[in-house]
Amino acid sequence: MGKLTLKDLDLQGKCALVRVDFNVPLQLSEKTNCYEVVDDTRIRAALPTIRTITEAGGKAVLLSHLGRPKGQPDPQYSLAPVADYLSGLLGTNLRFSSETIGSVVQKTVRTMPGGSVILLENTRYFPEETKNDPDFAAELAKLGDIFVNDAFGTAHRAHASNVGVANHFSLAAAGHLLENELGQLGNALQSPTPPTVALLGGAKVSDKIGVITNLLEIVDHILIGGAMAYTFLKTKGIPIGNSLVEEDRLGDAQEMLDKAQGKILLPGDHIVSTDLNVPNTSKTVSGSIENGFMGLDIGQETVEMYTQKIMDANTCIWNGPMGVFEIPEFASGTRAMAQAMASTTRKGAVTIIGGGDSVAAIKQSNLHTEVTHVSTGGGAMLQFLEGKSLPGLDALTDHP
Ligand code: 3PG
Repeated sequence: MGKLTLKDLDLQGKCALVRVDFNVPLQLSEKTNCYEVVDDTRIRAALPTIRTITEAGGKAVLLSHLGRPKGQPDPQYSLAPVADYLSGLLGTNLRFSSETIGSVVQKTVRTMPGGSVILLENTRYFPEETKNDPDFAAELAKLGDIFVNDAFGTAHRAHASNVGVANHFSLAAAGHLLENELGQLGNALQSPTPPTVALLGGAKVSDKIGVITNLLEIVDHILIGGAMAYTFLKTKGIPIGNSLVEEDRLGDAQEMLDKAQGKILLPGDHIVSTDLNVPNTSKTVSGSIENGFMGLDIGQETVEMYTQKIMDANTCIWNGPMGVFEIPEFASGTRAMAQAMASTTRKGAVTIIGGGDSVAAIKQSNLHTEVTHVSTGGGAMLQFLEGKSLPGLDALTDHP
């Protein structure tokens, strides 16, 4: 990785300003009328770094964004419920500061004993955060002696709390989560054991052009699912009925198919319906899709073909669902891929899954502990798969 990591730092008696990614789904509970954490993956993933700091006698000052408030306080995006949740996981009385910057929070941090943890309110309550404003970054930097970035999920953003702030520290290091993510993804891309397979789904080809272009240089097969498959199929002249298509990306899809020389595999059969909201008209069709129907999941023959490729692989990377998996009638393709990922892992393959929907799908199948690595990054993982650098990582101190 070439950057400082936690083990390079002397944490004893130090105040570590830690950028975490606690951008987690919250839901308003009808019972308590309070927001509650729905998925704690990112919170749990930050625990090793927090514990390393506090067990070494340091203080951890946690910074995060949550959602996209419009540069001002908005109670639905408060990190207070996350603080309660984290407190329970840590088993200590974690403090929460409703102020993110300023003299009051600076004093609180200064007077906290070693081993304590404080979470500050949402950095995106300030418009300066997403503008990477240097003055705002300088204010944040007053809250620590050293900087630790453990927010892989945000590493593709160049914001004040992960990039600007790092410039104010002579020691800015990667936390355990960031180091682990980069290790897992880096190995899978830089030295994969072949055969290597990428399974890519999701709605839009436009979101995945960079990823496909880069992965074509690395992997043996790219298996395509989700609505983006229909743009590729239309390019090939296959009738796709009323399926979702990006007309302005047909040229890009053609270019990728030309470059791929057979590496890109497309679904041969589909679960279709007249409408997303009328699942009882669903049926499986092979080859073309008639007008009046839209493709909403991969069919059984495709499931078998993709499963075989995944089972034959020694390295497998998955991002994006195969169909509209939130609706049970169109979830079987994605569920089957989750099964295949777990089975090939058991057989010894390295398997990496990322992206909110694919991670949600593997969790739905309760197979998330049976794959090699579940990434906490969505956009950040895609940017990494594109072969591009991550500003949040670039900003850290180089290893001497
Ligand atoms: C994510 O969930 O992908 C990260 O937390 C980044 O969030 P953003 O897309 O709102 O910048």
